[in-house]
Amino acid sequence: MQLASEIETLISEAEISARVRALGAQITAEHQGRELVLVCVLKGSFVFCADLARAIDLPLAIEFLGLKSYGDSQTTSGVVQITSDLLRPVAGKDVLIVEDIVDTGLTMAYLRKNLATRNPRSVKLAALLHKASRARVDTPIDYLGFEIPDKFVVGYGLDWAERYRNLPFVGVVRQQTP
Ligand code: IMP
Ligand code: MG
Repeated sequence: MQLASEIETLISEAEISARVRALGAQITAEHQGRELVLVCVLKGSFVFCADLARAIDLPLAIEFLGLKSYGDSQTTSGVVQITSDLLRPVAGKDVLIVEDIVDTGLTMAYLRKNLATRNPRSVKLAALLHKASRARVDTPIDYLGFEIPDKFVVGYGLDWAERYRNLPFVGVVRQQTP
């Protein structure tokens, strides 16, 4: 893959796939008889969400919500914006937020607070990646894929200035300009 040559692999396609299947099995076991709604946080989570949904063996709904906190830089602005809201109410439902990465935690803290005002039955968080060393607010992650070091990562849905989302693995950019 030509695009992949610009990236140093951190988590391989096979490792991601095995972990996502395990998370799906755990979510399946813990949500028997529930009305699960996956809230896919756009754009970064679209790949993880598509794979996780197929690893969950339960009837479920999928909704999309656009959030933006970064612009094109590599550090958070701290200001979170809803760029596209849910199309259906989640009142009474068991909501599972599906997020690509928790970095400072500011984005998820904002979203949890926002969703709580819509009276869901419960709100849980599934995150593929977590940079623990960068946490600025406490963000409980109910289902975590991988703990990673403090490096800016791309691939499997994650971008740098909109590039690299289509890489099938998670890696670190070798060069310093997008
Ligand atoms: P937080 O609010 O600092 O936790 O940032 C979370 C959001 O920032 C994630 O949903 C990503 O969209 C983005 N982000 C944080 N770290 C990275 C990274 O290493 N690569 C790509 N996007 C990232
Ligand atoms: Mg995100």
